[in-house]
This record gives sequence, structure tokens and C-alpha cells, in this order.
Amino acid sequence: RKPVTLRRLAKMKAEGEKIACLTAYDASFAQVVDAAGTDLVLVGDSLGMVIQGHATTVPVTMDDMVYHTRCVAQGLSTTFLVADMPFLSYSDPVRAVDNAGRLMQAGAAMVKLEGAAGQAEVISAMAGQDIPVCAHLGLRPQSVHKAGGFRVQGREDTAAAAMQADARALVEAGADLLLLECVPRDLAERITREAPVPVIGIGAGPGVDGQILVLYDMLGIPPGPKPRFVRDFMADADDVPAAIAAYVQAVKSGDYPAPEHGFE
Ligand code: KIV
Ligand code: NA
Repeated sequence: RKPVTLRRLAKMKAEGEKIACLTAYDASFAQVVDAAGTDLVLVGDSLGMVIQGHATTVPVTMDDMVYHTRCVAQGLSTTFLVADMPFLSYSDPVRAVDNAGRLMQAGAAMVKLEGAAGQAEVISAMAGQDIPVCAHLGLRPQSVHKAGGFRVQGREDTAAAAMQADARALVEAGADLLLLECVPRDLAERITREAPVPVIGIGAGPGVDGQILVLYDMLGIPPGPKPRFVRDFMADADDVPAAIAAYVQAVKSGDYPAPEHGFE
């Protein structure tokens, strides 16, 4: 397989081929995820929760992200590598460009930040340095303390309109990809139809250009209650590579997500 690039992701959107994405945090899992034909791997700041055991992503540092990005880059051959910008690492344009540069030099092909319209200036500074950017909208875990918890976003008409306007503003500022987390399916579908760039969803229903899950969640680790949008692919698989291959297949075929994984 040829390396997945931003151009290839745009072509997949244009041709209606679903983009299969997963998180990874180390070289060994990165190898398995790559071999399964995953299009995009995110070194998520979810590592603060699944690797470090914190209750939120807020404690994650730039050094943590650089370290795990390096580890994952070692395991990939063709999968497109995105790295998360952690809490407060993009609080102004200069800081954002410096920190994004560290992640690119660690092996990322794109960085992701959690943004509302207020991040337009930061995104345009990154775009000005030819740093590909993904803007993460909807439920933004780094804002958990201000938001007062993790919950579905964009349910009220005004919030939905604001999210649509944010998506437009951030693409206008230079975002090359959008990610929607925990957004009602109709709103996610509207944003995707309107966006000139690919839109990846998690808990955003089937009407987006691609899907992402936290690797450990879709492997059923640890056992116990999971967000409703998660499917445990280990339940019907003989081993981890088979579970990851089944996920990629299910995203490509439209089998995942099913209606019960979304929000109205
Ligand atoms: O950090 C992460 O894993 C993420 C995904 C859930 C999208 O941002
Ligand atoms: Na994240």
C-alpha cells in the first residue's frame, strides 16, 4: 500500500470511501494498526487516561506527546500519523507553532487541537508554516472542567448553529481536517456535507467521512462500561490483529457505527 497522505484522504472523501482511524500510543500496537490497513492513526492525548491513568486529559504534557509520537512513528509504514496538541500547548500562535513543530519533528504528518472559532488565529499561524491541522469540535475533553463534565454537544439549535459556524471558520482559517466528538448525527451529517475537508467522527453517527475510536476501548480494555458509541471488536475476534482488521472492515463497509452507537 502507498503511504496515506492528505491528498489521499481528500480523495477518499470525494469518492465516498470511509476513512478508518484509530488511536495508538506505542510502536507495537502501531505496527498492528498499520498492518490492518488503518488509514489514519492518532496519538491522542487520551493517553493521559488510558496510559497514565488520569481521570482527564488535562495533565498531559508536550514531552509526553513527543515521546509517544516518536514511539508510534517507529511502528508505522503507510498510515497517516496525527498527534494531539495537549492542554495549553496552543494558547497563542507562537507557542502553537513551536509545539506543533516538535510533534512534526517527532514524526507526525498533522497535529490536532481542540478548537472553537477562537482558535482561528492559531490555526492560521500553523497553516502559514505549512503544518497540517485537524480541528476537534463538539465534545472537547480538555475543556471538561469549564464544561462541567463530558456530554453530547450541539443538541440545542443555537449550539448546533454555533458549531456549524465554528467548523466553517476553522476551515477558512486553514484546518485540513475536522473531527467531531459526541455530536448528534444530523448535525454531524450537515457539517460533513458542507465541509470541503474530510470530517472524522467519534460518537457522531454514520454521516461523516470516517470514524475513530480509542484503541483500548474497541479492544474492550479494561472490561466494564464504555461510552455508548464504542463497539468491542475483541468480543468476536480470536486475537488483537483480527479485532483491529474487523474494525477497519466495519468502518469501510458502513457496518460501524450502527444506529445504537449514535446520538439523536
Ligand atoms: O485523544 C484522543 O484519543 C482523541 C480521540 C478520541 C478523537 O482526541
Ligand atoms: Na484528544
